[in-house]
Amino acid sequence: MNQAAPAPRENQGDPVVRIDARLKVTGQAGYPADIVTANVAYGALATSSIARGKVSGLHTKDARAVPGVLDIVTYHDMDKTDTPKFGNTGASSIGPLHDKTVFHDGQIIALVVAETFEAAEEAAMLIRADYEDERPAASFDSKGVKMEPAAGKNPMFKEDAKAGDFDAAWADATVKIDEKYSTPTQHHNPIELFSTTAIWQGDQLTIHEPSQNVTGWKVELARQLKLDPANVRIVSPYIGGAFGSKGPMTARTAIVAVAARRIGRPVRCVVNRMQAFGTQTYRAETRHRIRMGAGKDGRITAFGHEAWEVTSRPDPYVVGGTSATARMYNYGAVLTHVSLVHADRNTPGYMRSPPETPYVYALENAMDEMAVALGMDPVEFRRINEPEKEPIGGKPFSSRSLIKCYDQAAEAFGWSKRDPRVGSMRDGDWLVGMGCATAIYPTAAAPCAARVRLTADGEVRVQCGSHEIGTGVRTIAGQMAAERLGIGMDKISVEMGDSALPPAPVSGGSISTASVCSAVMKACDAIRGKLFAAAAGRGAPLAGSGNAKLDLKGEEVVTETGKSAKLADVFKAMQVGAIEEYAEFAPKGSSPEALSKLYAGQSEFHGGENDEDSVKYAFGAEFVEVRINSYTREIRVPRIVGAFAAGLIMNTRTARSQLMGGMIWGIGQALHEATEIDQRHARYVNRDLQDYLVPVNADIKQVDVILVPEIDHQVNPAGVKGLGELGNVGTAAAVASAVYHATGKRIRDLPIRIDDLI
Ligand code: MOS
Repeated sequence: MNQAAPAPRENQGDPVVRIDARLKVTGQAGYPADIVTANVAYGALATSSIARGKVSGLHTKDARAVPGVLDIVTYHDMDKTDTPKFGNTGASSIGPLHDKTVFHDGQIIALVVAETFEAAEEAAMLIRADYEDERPAASFDSKGVKMEPAAGKNPMFKEDAKAGDFDAAWADATVKIDEKYSTPTQHHNPIELFSTTAIWQGDQLTIHEPSQNVTGWKVELARQLKLDPANVRIVSPYIGGAFGSKGPMTARTAIVAVAARRIGRPVRCVVNRMQAFGTQTYRAETRHRIRMGAGKDGRITAFGHEAWEVTSRPDPYVVGGTSATARMYNYGAVLTHVSLVHADRNTPGYMRSPPETPYVYALENAMDEMAVALGMDPVEFRRINEPEKEPIGGKPFSSRSLIKCYDQAAEAFGWSKRDPRVGSMRDGDWLVGMGCATAIYPTAAAPCAARVRLTADGEVRVQCGSHEIGTGVRTIAGQMAAERLGIGMDKISVEMGDSALPPAPVSGGSISTASVCSAVMKACDAIRGKLFAAAAGRGAPLAGSGNAKLDLKGEEVVTETGKSAKLADVFKAMQVGAIEEYAEFAPKGSSPEALSKLYAGQSEFHGGENDEDSVKYAFGAEFVEVRINSYTREIRVPRIVGAFAAGLIMNTRTARSQLMGGMIWGIGQALHEATEIDQRHARYVNRDLQDYLVPVNADIKQVDVILVPEIDHQVNPAGVKGLGELGNVGTAAAVASAVYHATGKRIRDLPIRIDDLI
């Protein structure tokens, strides 16, 4: 694998090494559960063994007899608290210890607290429940599921996209594809386990828990516990894998806080991997029917995308990826419809590119099938269906570099060497296949605050309650300050992941770089303004250079004409030791309440398909080579090339790392990852990393990332498009297309496994 960070091209920042790299590789960047706190007690969960019904009795006597057990929190112990809410901040409305109803297998029925982790685990296993159980519905095909249209059930998915007269266009189409696709349930398995550590000091509560939304959680937890949000603090400086899993707060947080208050000691609960499958969120299985009609010239005239998603009984969690698929190409008529299927399952939640991963998988497969049906090169097919405007609202794209991505990736991959005939390429015992697909992710931003302090000796501190979830945002927020203030990275410190800091939106939806950097830039520009006014003022070091453009470079205020004044002297002239600025950024189109909502823990997203002036997306093109052993049908991916355009790239090293990680995950989605469900009991079966397959190093060979230069002034002041969730979109479809090219077998249901190719 090529290890070098790409050299910056136009509109791309330096590949600055992460400012927390050393801390991370030396184990000093502790996870929230590593926090050392005196007198901590340990919690362990007991969970239901049925998926639907009621808890009619709970037997805790044996558990209480385990030496070291301090307390058991169960039904009625949570009565004085408010139930969780489903939404952007709360994972589910299911309040496990509020109500004896069982909504899913693995639902929390008690929390044991003990002197040691071992005692807590032992006691939790001794808790016995009596149930009145009913036959559960596990998924799409189960008896007793409830299906409803998804549009309007959840603010995240307002309507089914439509354009023109689909039925007429479909009837008239010369070449037609009408196929079904499916993606499986996938569970978050971050290396860092889920955990809550609750510490009370009087009526002040501090929670150490991995979180992508410390401000949102502070407010939501305060609501559940009926506290003043000012008395709640969420601390989460480093996270070992997030990807949406630590976005919404789950019911456990409040339960652990209640336990700590009851015993008058800090309580730490680290959820074991098996229990995380039922107590955290996950990517729900999806089904798709795609109808695509085209003329002999290869122009698409009709696009129909129907989809079905699974959710829990009470919560309308929906991803609704048709909002992106309906705007991808120049389709002509479009008809989409998303349905929600309520089953006896825990509520799903965000997982990296929640809508695009499954929906674009279906679309890009259909694109490949249509290219084959037309006898057309799949890249050429996409080229001729490139839209001038998005087909639903007729709005322009703020920028769209998809074809540049295809050109650059195809060139690097060697696409011209591909023989389009199915099964024609071979290397000894190995069948060789090559495929490609489009990646797309909406560019959004949300209100964000930041505080920046510059001292006379050139030390910079950046504070923002955003979250370093592994993306490098702590580093690039520092880069933004370094660049605007003309200070070296070695003198920049960045604090994040604490609700005591200026509020930031949820670190989800790939909005952090755009939102955080825009706020940091605004604070820095306010500092620049003060320094420049002082530097050019009467009697000041640069007096009289008022009209000259001033800039900050190398700890100096510099003029266009080459004059300069040392920062320390400008501070001296100002008679201050430090300048500190607090800035609030709100994206264009923000509501009048957008900033007050930020402080209330609600992130108001802008961008994607929702803005008035244009639709905003980042794009990419991915090319994959697969090799399939002609005897064993073993599937290998020796190389993958992705080219991506995402506006200003703050740091080519961290950007490449995100995109590479995304493509690797995409390979996992194509070939490995799936949660198996026991349909009789609505129970997840492979609840550990031995049976829940993810790619390992031996599965991943060459992964190349090309960063295509792109300038977009419309997206936000920083000109940044998010890319954290771009890389894993389209990958699985590219693999499926390569598998088809190698074998002639079109696999429409993920993951693609050896048995599919026998
Ligand atoms: Mo991401 S799934 O929006 O953390």
